[in-house]
Amino acid sequence: MTHPIRIAPSILASDFGNFGAECRAVEGAGADWIHVDVMDGHFVPNITFGPATCAAIRPHVKGVMDVHLMIAPVDPYIEAFANAGADIITAHIEAGPHIHRTLQAIRGAGKKAGLALNPGTGTDAVEHLIDMVDLICVMTVNPGFGGQKFIHSQIEKVRRLRAIIGDRPVHIEIDGGVTVETAPLVAAAGADVLVAGSAVFSGGSVDQPDIYARNIKAIRAAAEAARGDWA
Ligand code: DX5
Ligand code: ZN
Repeated sequence: MTHPIRIAPSILASDFGNFGAECRAVEGAGADWIHVDVMDGHFVPNITFGPATCAAIRPHVKGVMDVHLMIAPVDPYIEAFANAGADIITAHIEAGPHIHRTLQAIRGAGKKAGLALNPGTGTDAVEHLIDMVDLICVMTVNPGFGGQKFIHSQIEKVRRLRAIIGDRPVHIEIDGGVTVETAPLVAAAGADVLVAGSAVFSGGSVDQPDIYARNIKAIRAAAEAARGDWA
C-alpha cells in the first residue's frame, strides 16, 4: 500500500498541564504523528499557544510534529515555528492574500508545507498550488474548537482533491469530527492522515494509555477497511 493510514492525535483534546507526558503516552499507544493546533483568537475564535509551547513539546515527540496554524497573519511566524521543531507547517488558504508566498516560505525554512481549507472553501485554488504542498488539510469542522460534529459535505471535496493530486506524493489530512463512524467515509474518498482529538483522548489519560491505544486502533481499523482503489 503506497498510502498507509496515519493517525494524528490532536493535543487540543489532551491535558494542557501535561503536554510532554500526553505526547509520549499517545505515541506509545500507536499514534503516527502528533497534531498541534495553534490558534490566535483572531483567525479563529479561540486561543491555544504559540512557538514556545511547540518548542517545549518537541523533545517529547519522537515522530512527526504536525503543526496546524490557525493564525493570521502567518508569514511573520513561520521561522519561529520552524525553529520550534515542526516537521510539517500547515497554513490556511483563507488566512491572507498571499498563500503562495506563505508556502514558499515554509519550504524555504526546510519544512514540509501543508495547505488547509475551511469547509466553505472550494478546490479551485488548489490546482495552482498543488506542486508547492506536501499535505492538504481538509477541515471537516469550522476551525477553532475540538469536539464538533463532522460536516459530511466535505467528503466530496476529498474525492476531488485526490483526483487533482493524481500520483503526486501529497497527503490528504482530515481534521475535525473524526470518529470510528466518519473515518471510513473519508478514507474511502482519498484521505490518508486522520487527525483526531476527542476520539483518541476520551476515556483515557497518561495513567491509562491503553484506552488511547484502543481508540487509535479502532479508528485505524475502520479507515483501513474502507480504503478505495486510489490507496
Ligand atoms: C479544530 C482543530 C482540530 C481539533 C479536532 O480547529 O484543528 O484539530 O482538535 O478535534 P476533534 O477530533 O475533537 O474534532
Ligand atoms: Zn488541527
